[in-house]
Amino acid sequence: MTALQVEHVSKSFGGLQALDDVSLQTEGEILGLIGPNGAGKTTLFNIISGFLSPTRGRVTYNGHSLQRRRPHQIVRLGIARTFQIVKPFSDLTVLENVLSGVGMPVYPRPQALVRRYRTPVSLKQAREVLAQTGLEAWADTLAANLPIGLQRRLEIARALATAPSFLLLDEPAAGLTAQEAEELAALIRSLHEQDIDMIVIEHNMAFAMNLCERIVVLAQGRIIADGPPAVIQQDERVINAYLGQEESDADHQ
Ligand SMILES: Nc1ncnc2c1ncn2[C@@H]1O[C@H](COP(=O)(O)OP(=O)(O)OP(=O)(O)O)[C@@H](O)[C@H]1O
Ligand SMILES: [Mg+2]
Repeated sequence: MTALQVEHVSKSFGGLQALDDVSLQTEGEILGLIGPNGAGKTTLFNIISGFLSPTRGRVTYNGHSLQRRRPHQIVRLGIARTFQIVKPFSDLTVLENVLSGVGMPVYPRPQALVRRYRTPVSLKQAREVLAQTGLEAWADTLAANLPIGLQRRLEIARALATAPSFLLLDEPAAGLTAQEAEELAALIRSLHEQDIDMIVIEHNMAFAMNLCERIVVLAQGRIIADGPPAVIQQDERVINAYLGQEESDADHQ
Protein backbone atom coordinates (compact mmCIF):
# COMPACT_ATOMS: atom_id res chain seq x y z
CA MET A 1 0.00 0.00 0.00
CA THR A 2 1.22 3.48 -0.82
CA ALA A 3 0.67 6.33 1.57
CA LEU A 4 0.53 10.02 1.06
CA GLN A 5 0.94 12.06 4.17
CA VAL A 6 0.09 15.74 4.42
CA GLU A 7 1.37 17.21 7.67
CA HIS A 8 0.25 20.58 9.01
CA VAL A 9 0.26 22.21 5.59
CA SER A 10 -0.60 25.90 5.39
CA LYS A 11 -0.47 28.14 2.35
CA SER A 12 -1.02 31.85 2.18
CA PHE A 13 -1.14 34.08 -0.85
CA GLY A 14 -0.32 37.51 0.54
CA GLY A 15 -2.98 38.09 3.16
CA LEU A 16 -5.17 35.21 2.00
CA GLN A 17 -4.89 32.00 3.97
CA ALA A 18 -5.81 29.37 1.34
CA LEU A 19 -4.84 26.39 3.52
CA ASP A 20 -4.66 26.44 7.28
CA ASP A 21 -2.93 23.55 9.09
CA VAL A 22 -4.19 20.73 6.87
CA SER A 23 -3.18 17.20 7.84
CA LEU A 24 -4.34 13.96 6.27
CA GLN A 25 -3.02 10.53 5.45
CA THR A 26 -4.36 8.28 2.72
CA GLU A 27 -4.95 4.61 3.42
CA GLY A 28 -5.10 3.18 -0.09
CA GLU A 29 -8.72 4.16 -0.60
CA ILE A 30 -10.47 6.31 -3.18
CA LEU A 31 -10.40 9.47 -1.13
CA GLY A 32 -12.87 12.22 -2.01
CA LEU A 33 -11.92 15.83 -1.37
CA ILE A 34 -14.92 18.12 -1.36
CA GLY A 35 -15.72 21.63 -0.24
CA PRO A 36 -17.20 24.92 -1.41
CA ASN A 37 -15.56 27.16 -4.05
CA GLY A 38 -12.30 28.62 -2.87
CA ALA A 39 -11.95 26.08 -0.04
CA GLY A 40 -8.34 25.32 -1.02
CA LYS A 41 -8.82 21.96 -2.80
CA THR A 42 -6.81 22.77 -5.92
CA THR A 43 -4.19 24.57 -3.82
CA LEU A 44 -3.65 21.33 -1.90
CA PHE A 45 -3.18 19.44 -5.21
CA ASN A 46 -0.77 22.14 -6.38
CA ILE A 47 1.28 21.63 -3.24
CA ILE A 48 1.29 17.82 -3.40
CA SER A 49 2.27 17.85 -7.08
CA GLY A 50 5.04 20.41 -6.59
CA PHE A 51 3.47 23.34 -8.47
CA LEU A 52 3.42 25.36 -5.23
CA SER A 53 5.45 25.17 -2.02
CA PRO A 54 3.62 25.20 1.27
CA THR A 55 4.13 28.20 3.54
CA ARG A 56 4.32 25.72 6.41
CA GLY A 57 4.14 21.95 6.83
CA ARG A 58 5.23 19.12 4.57
CA VAL A 59 4.08 16.29 2.35
CA THR A 60 5.63 12.82 2.16
CA TYR A 61 4.90 9.93 -0.17
CA ASN A 62 5.97 6.43 0.84
CA GLY A 63 8.36 8.04 3.25
CA HIS A 64 9.92 10.38 0.66
CA SER A 65 9.64 14.05 1.48
CA LEU A 66 8.25 15.98 -1.47
CA GLN A 67 9.75 19.20 -0.23
CA ARG A 68 11.63 21.15 -2.88
CA ARG A 69 10.98 18.51 -5.53
CA ARG A 70 9.91 19.79 -8.90
CA PRO A 71 6.68 18.59 -10.51
CA HIS A 72 8.41 16.13 -12.88
CA GLN A 73 10.41 14.65 -9.98
CA ILE A 74 7.18 14.08 -8.09
CA VAL A 75 5.72 12.36 -11.16
CA ARG A 76 8.76 10.10 -11.14
CA LEU A 77 7.92 9.10 -7.58
CA GLY A 78 4.57 7.91 -8.93
CA ILE A 79 2.17 10.81 -8.31
CA ALA A 80 0.34 12.12 -11.38
CA ARG A 81 -2.39 14.72 -11.54
CA THR A 82 -5.06 16.13 -13.79
CA PHE A 83 -6.08 19.77 -14.03
CA GLN A 84 -9.43 21.34 -13.24
CA ILE A 85 -9.12 23.27 -16.48
CA VAL A 86 -8.10 20.63 -19.02
CA LYS A 87 -4.78 21.31 -20.69
CA PRO A 88 -4.37 18.99 -23.68
CA PHE A 89 -1.94 19.86 -26.48
CA SER A 90 -4.75 21.04 -28.74
CA ASP A 91 -2.86 20.69 -32.00
CA LEU A 92 -1.71 17.13 -31.29
CA THR A 93 -3.84 14.04 -31.72
CA VAL A 94 -5.20 12.09 -28.78
CA LEU A 95 -2.53 9.40 -29.30
CA GLU A 96 0.24 12.00 -29.49
CA ASN A 97 -1.02 13.63 -26.29
CA VAL A 98 -0.77 10.32 -24.50
CA LEU A 99 2.60 9.53 -26.09
CA SER A 100 3.98 12.75 -24.64
CA GLY A 101 3.41 11.27 -21.18
CA VAL A 102 4.84 7.79 -21.78
CA GLY A 103 8.15 7.53 -19.98
CA MET A 104 8.38 11.29 -20.00
CA PRO A 105 6.33 12.98 -17.37
CA VAL A 106 7.10 16.60 -18.12
CA TYR A 107 5.54 18.35 -21.04
CA PRO A 108 8.00 20.79 -22.62
CA ARG A 109 7.88 21.20 -26.39
CA PRO A 110 5.36 18.50 -27.23
CA GLN A 111 6.48 18.02 -30.83
CA ALA A 112 10.01 17.11 -29.74
CA LEU A 113 8.66 14.66 -27.21
CA VAL A 114 6.39 12.97 -29.69
CA ARG A 115 9.26 12.49 -32.15
CA ARG A 116 11.50 11.10 -29.45
CA TYR A 117 8.92 8.75 -27.97
CA ARG A 118 7.29 7.41 -31.08
CA THR A 119 9.06 4.10 -30.58
CA PRO A 120 7.28 0.75 -30.81
CA VAL A 121 7.41 0.32 -27.03
CA SER A 122 5.96 3.69 -26.15
CA LEU A 123 3.38 3.40 -28.92
CA LYS A 124 2.24 0.10 -27.43
CA GLN A 125 2.04 1.64 -23.96
CA ALA A 126 0.14 4.66 -25.24
CA ARG A 127 -2.34 2.43 -27.09
CA GLU A 128 -2.86 0.42 -23.91
CA VAL A 129 -3.69 3.61 -22.03
CA LEU A 130 -6.13 4.60 -24.79
CA ALA A 131 -7.82 1.19 -24.51
CA GLN A 132 -7.96 1.49 -20.74
CA THR A 133 -9.63 4.90 -20.92
CA GLY A 134 -11.98 4.11 -23.81
CA LEU A 135 -10.30 6.54 -26.20
CA GLU A 136 -9.08 4.07 -28.87
CA ALA A 137 -11.58 5.21 -31.46
CA TRP A 138 -10.34 8.79 -31.05
CA ALA A 139 -6.60 8.07 -31.32
CA ASP A 140 -6.12 10.16 -34.46
CA THR A 141 -8.51 12.97 -33.56
CA LEU A 142 -6.99 16.35 -32.71
CA ALA A 143 -7.40 16.94 -28.98
CA ALA A 144 -9.01 20.33 -29.68
CA ASN A 145 -11.84 18.58 -31.52
CA LEU A 146 -12.81 16.27 -28.67
CA PRO A 147 -16.02 16.98 -26.77
CA ILE A 148 -15.42 18.06 -23.14
CA GLY A 149 -16.34 14.67 -21.67
CA LEU A 150 -13.60 13.01 -23.71
CA GLN A 151 -11.12 15.81 -23.02
CA ARG A 152 -11.53 14.98 -19.33
CA ARG A 153 -10.76 11.34 -20.13
CA LEU A 154 -7.73 12.42 -22.14
CA GLU A 155 -6.55 14.37 -19.13
CA ILE A 156 -6.69 11.12 -17.14
CA ALA A 157 -5.07 9.17 -20.00
CA ARG A 158 -2.11 11.56 -20.07
CA ALA A 159 -1.66 11.15 -16.33
CA LEU A 160 -1.86 7.34 -16.70
CA ALA A 161 0.81 7.41 -19.39
CA THR A 162 3.33 8.24 -16.66
CA ALA A 163 2.46 4.89 -15.00
CA PRO A 164 1.48 6.42 -11.67
CA SER A 165 0.81 4.66 -8.40
CA PHE A 166 -1.12 7.67 -7.12
CA LEU A 167 -3.53 9.89 -9.04
CA LEU A 168 -4.81 13.33 -8.10
CA LEU A 169 -7.97 14.05 -10.09
CA ASP A 170 -9.22 17.65 -9.99
CA GLU A 171 -12.95 17.69 -10.71
CA PRO A 172 -12.83 14.95 -13.35
CA ALA A 173 -16.64 14.92 -13.62
CA ALA A 174 -17.09 18.67 -14.16
CA GLY A 175 -19.24 19.37 -17.21
CA LEU A 176 -20.08 15.71 -17.81
CA THR A 177 -23.58 14.38 -18.43
CA ALA A 178 -25.00 11.97 -15.83
CA GLN A 179 -24.23 9.08 -18.18
CA GLU A 180 -20.64 10.24 -18.77
CA ALA A 181 -20.15 10.74 -15.03
CA GLU A 182 -21.33 7.17 -14.39
CA GLU A 183 -18.86 5.84 -16.97
CA LEU A 184 -16.11 7.93 -15.44
CA ALA A 185 -16.87 6.52 -11.99
CA ALA A 186 -16.51 3.01 -13.46
CA LEU A 187 -13.14 3.97 -14.96
CA ILE A 188 -11.93 5.41 -11.65
CA ARG A 189 -13.01 2.26 -9.81
CA SER A 190 -11.21 0.04 -12.30
CA LEU A 191 -8.02 2.09 -11.91
CA HIS A 192 -8.29 1.71 -8.17
CA GLU A 193 -8.68 -2.05 -8.58
CA GLN A 194 -5.39 -1.93 -10.48
CA ASP A 195 -3.78 -0.58 -7.32
CA ILE A 196 -3.73 3.08 -8.19
CA ASP A 197 -4.57 5.10 -5.10
CA MET A 198 -6.24 8.42 -5.57
CA ILE A 199 -7.68 11.62 -4.29
CA VAL A 200 -10.63 12.89 -6.29
CA ILE A 201 -11.77 16.50 -5.95
CA GLU A 202 -15.45 16.73 -6.62
CA HIS A 203 -18.12 19.39 -6.44
CA ASN A 204 -21.00 17.06 -7.01
CA MET A 205 -21.71 15.65 -3.58
CA ALA A 206 -23.77 12.72 -4.92
CA PHE A 207 -20.97 11.68 -7.29
CA ALA A 208 -18.39 11.78 -4.47
CA MET A 209 -20.66 9.96 -2.05
CA ASN A 210 -21.22 7.17 -4.54
CA LEU A 211 -17.58 6.82 -5.60
CA CYS A 212 -15.50 7.36 -2.49
CA GLU A 213 -14.91 5.22 0.54
CA ARG A 214 -13.78 8.17 2.58
CA ILE A 215 -14.39 11.88 2.23
CA VAL A 216 -12.41 14.83 3.51
CA VAL A 217 -14.22 18.16 3.57
CA LEU A 218 -12.30 21.42 3.27
CA ALA A 219 -13.89 24.78 3.99
CA GLN A 220 -11.98 28.06 4.05
CA GLY A 221 -8.68 26.21 4.08
CA ARG A 222 -9.42 23.93 7.01
CA ILE A 223 -10.49 20.30 7.23
CA ILE A 224 -13.92 20.36 8.83
CA ALA A 225 -14.77 16.66 8.45
CA ASP A 226 -13.09 13.37 7.51
CA GLY A 227 -14.92 10.06 7.38
CA PRO A 228 -17.16 7.66 5.46
CA PRO A 229 -19.77 9.24 3.12
CA ALA A 230 -22.74 8.27 5.29
CA VAL A 231 -21.26 10.15 8.25
CA ILE A 232 -20.15 13.16 6.19
CA GLN A 233 -23.62 13.55 4.73
CA GLN A 234 -25.08 14.02 8.22
CA ASP A 235 -22.34 16.29 9.52
CA GLU A 236 -23.73 19.62 10.56
CA ARG A 237 -20.57 21.60 9.82
CA VAL A 238 -20.55 20.16 6.29
CA ILE A 239 -24.20 20.96 5.72
CA ASN A 240 -23.65 24.50 6.98
CA ALA A 241 -20.59 25.01 4.78
CA TYR A 242 -22.59 24.04 1.70
CA LEU A 243 -25.66 26.01 2.75
CA GLY A 244 -23.42 29.04 3.24
CA GLN A 245 -22.22 28.62 -0.29
CA GLU A 246 -25.74 28.42 -1.70
CA GLU A 247 -26.67 31.61 0.12
CA SER A 248 -23.64 33.47 -1.19
CA ASP A 249 -24.31 32.10 -4.70
CA ALA A 250 -27.83 33.53 -4.44
CA ASP A 251 -26.38 36.89 -3.36
CA HIS A 252 -24.40 37.05 -6.58
CA GLN A 253 -27.35 36.45 -8.88
N1 LIG B 1 -1.84 31.23 -7.25
C1 LIG B 1 -2.70 31.89 -6.47
N2 LIG B 1 -2.49 33.17 -6.12
C2 LIG B 1 -3.34 33.84 -5.31
N3 LIG B 1 -4.46 33.29 -4.79
C3 LIG B 1 -4.72 32.03 -5.09
C4 LIG B 1 -3.86 31.25 -5.96
N4 LIG B 1 -4.39 30.00 -6.07
C5 LIG B 1 -5.51 30.00 -5.34
N5 LIG B 1 -5.72 31.20 -4.75
C6 LIG B 1 -6.82 31.55 -3.84
O1 LIG B 1 -6.82 30.57 -2.81
C7 LIG B 1 -8.15 30.19 -2.44
C8 LIG B 1 -8.32 28.70 -2.65
O2 LIG B 1 -8.34 28.45 -4.05
P1 LIG B 1 -8.45 26.99 -4.67
O3 LIG B 1 -8.34 27.14 -6.13
O4 LIG B 1 -7.49 26.10 -3.98
O5 LIG B 1 -9.94 26.58 -4.24
P2 LIG B 1 -10.80 25.34 -4.68
O6 LIG B 1 -11.28 24.70 -3.43
O7 LIG B 1 -10.05 24.50 -5.64
O8 LIG B 1 -12.03 26.06 -5.39
P3 LIG B 1 -12.92 25.62 -6.65
O9 LIG B 1 -13.94 24.67 -6.11
O10 LIG B 1 -13.55 26.90 -7.09
O11 LIG B 1 -12.02 25.02 -7.67
C9 LIG B 1 -9.06 31.05 -3.31
O12 LIG B 1 -9.44 32.18 -2.57
C10 LIG B 1 -8.19 31.44 -4.48
O13 LIG B 1 -8.60 32.65 -5.04
MG1 LIG C 1 -10.34 23.94 -7.59
